[in-house]
Amino acid sequence: TGGVEGSVGSGLPEPDETEEPDRRGMPTCLLCTCLGGSVYCDDLKLDHVPPLPKETTHFYARYNRITKINKSDFAFMNKLKRIDLTANEITSIDEKAFIGLPELEELVIRENHISQLPALPETMALIDASHNNIGTKGIHKEAFKDMTSLLYLYLTDNNLDYIPVPLPDSLRSLHLQRNNIQMMHEDTFCNLKDFNYIRNALEDIRLDGNPINLSRTPQAYICLPRIPIGDLI
Ligand SMILES: *[C@@H]1O[C@H](CO)[C@@H](O)[C@H](O)[C@H]1NC(C)=O
Ligand SMILES: *[C@@H]1O[C@H](CO)[C@@H](O)[C@H](O)[C@H]1NC(C)=O
Repeated sequence: TGGVEGSVGSGLPEPDETEEPDRRGMPTCLLCTCLGGSVYCDDLKLDHVPPLPKETTHFYARYNRITKINKSDFAFMNKLKRIDLTANEITSIDEKAFIGLPELEELVIRENHISQLPALPETMALIDASHNNIGTKGIHKEAFKDMTSLLYLYLTDNNLDYIPVPLPDSLRSLHLQRNNIQMMHEDTFCNLKDFNYIRNALEDIRLDGNPINLSRTPQAYICLPRIPIGDLI
């Protein structure tokens, strides 16, 4: 049939073509490896996201040459849980590319060239946007606030000059190494109005490689199980 839908051995049911975006081109499950709900397209010199079978739950396209993520690339992918686009050449992501994905939990977009983190659904558990060019205006205001299942937020090797607050109570790991963070507010992590507030989950904060003097804000860590790791400056 010339589409993904018809590819032999995908093991996936035929999607309803009436609501599918354009899915022509080389059958994705011949080009990539489709196993159960996972589609592996690593290291194939791809310059765009291939049309995905509708049942895809995990999509891997690491080490390719993708430059842009379009709004249509993941449209109607209602089962997608994980997208891994590590080490591509992505400079822009459509603002609406991921927001409509009801099951998305993990986005790995490390080692690209994005300056903006697009809006993400509240279902996120892991966001890894390390090694990009995300600066001061690259993260939406209160972007992570409503992600009540967020566990891992990795933003190392970017150009952030602030800690993106508020952070949900679910968060376990916050990696911000090698950014340009120069100061922290005493209420970045803790609640100065409520000294009984304890943020038990957040046990791994990395701020090394930032021009920040953590000794200046001793009150900022009182609710944490561990003091953040930073440089002795
Ligand atoms: C992205 O979408 C635009 C229009 O929406 C289209 O012209 C372009 O070819 C798409 N790019 C890729 C790589 O699919
Ligand atoms: C860091 O802050 C502490 C506490 O304010 C201060 O004693 C120390 O001199 C500062 N270090 C540097 C390098 O500014």
